[in-house]
Amino acid sequence: MLPSLPSMGNMQALQMLPRRGILLAVSTVTVFIVLFQFYGDVPVEYYRNYAPGEAMAPMATSNDTPQPAYFKGQPEWDWTIPEHARSMNGYARTPQNRDIVVLTASDGGGHNSAIPNVLERVLDDRQKYCARHGYTNLWLNTSRYDIGDAHRTWSKIPAVAEAFYLHPNAEWVWLIDTDIIIMTPDYDLVKELLSPKALQAGLLRGAPILDGTLAENPTYINTTEDFRVEEIDILITQDHQSVNTGSTFFRRSAFTRWTLEMMTDYTMLMGQEHGGAEQDALKHLMLEHRLVRDHVGIYSQRKFNAYVQGGDNMGYRDGDLLVHFAGCWVGGKCQEWFEEYWGKKGHKDVWKPATGNA
Ligand SMILES: *[C@@H]1O[C@H](CO)[C@@H](O)[C@H](O)[C@H]1NC(C)=O
Ligand SMILES: *[C@@H]1O[C@H](CO)[C@@H](O)[C@H](O)[C@H]1NC(C)=O
Repeated sequence: MLPSLPSMGNMQALQMLPRRGILLAVSTVTVFIVLFQFYGDVPVEYYRNYAPGEAMAPMATSNDTPQPAYFKGQPEWDWTIPEHARSMNGYARTPQNRDIVVLTASDGGGHNSAIPNVLERVLDDRQKYCARHGYTNLWLNTSRYDIGDAHRTWSKIPAVAEAFYLHPNAEWVWLIDTDIIIMTPDYDLVKELLSPKALQAGLLRGAPILDGTLAENPTYINTTEDFRVEEIDILITQDHQSVNTGSTFFRRSAFTRWTLEMMTDYTMLMGQEHGGAEQDALKHLMLEHRLVRDHVGIYSQRKFNAYVQGGDNMGYRDGDLLVHFAGCWVGGKCQEWFEEYWGKKGHKDVWKPATGNA
């Protein structure tokens, strides 16, 4: 039996009044916090450009016309950075799928011409991958960039800038070489790689940064142990010798813009002898500058740059996002390997399980 409560009516009214007041105050404050959070996060152009029911004009590329003069004077080198991305302190947020551009920067020639119609085939495949997730597929013709007498490989960098220029809402540009096949079309880039949570959990801490093999040429420089997710603007992997730019993510930010400018500095880097072109430039900046290391996150290689050959730390294994045919021309195996993997796209069977050997 419940104890009988004395004169409920008045007591209750007295207790309820202040509680209502507190509730009301808390809700008001919450609404304002949410509003301001939202206001700070989402630039107004976002809504303007994606207003419901309004057809989005397809972005016109200029792939078939050469640049009239040196690339740094062209409008497509001059991409904008929103207010929230201008500080070196950075920001952390989970990108929307539609703000991810999958960029293939190529002239369709080079080593890969060993594989018939390789560009058409991978672009078609990337289009399907993008459609599935709501990413944007983009091909830019690197032959049209005027990069002076520098090696053509450098022209991937103006392509990254142009991707940001053409897609003003793009938050991340994923630059992938033509000689790459996406093996796991289900793979969710945001969940696995780009969200603050994924960065926090997945980036390598205290891992040696390579400049040649570790045994022969140790650099004694490691990735940051206590990086800040807010500062991570570039994502890359290393093979057994060096960072590899065959598959790299760039975030729209002041740091990224500064880095693209520095990498292509003609006097210091782009006009100099660099066997590995833009890849050497990034490696050099990382080895030389703590500031750069703080902003470049390194994932383990197979996260988004598995090769055909190599142990469990390097070679493609079932479930990996992609396979990269880096160096396949050395043994003249490009076509053979390409066709073999092409036939296994999206496979779910046990084909190349981890062996337990690095
Ligand atoms: C790529 O650019 C070069 C130089 O502007 C041009 O000659 C070539 O036709 C372009 N390729 C395509 C497929 O548009
Ligand atoms: C870098 O990492 C290596 C391997 O994990 C470790 O042996 C070395 O002490 C680290 N160096 C520094 C300077 O932290």
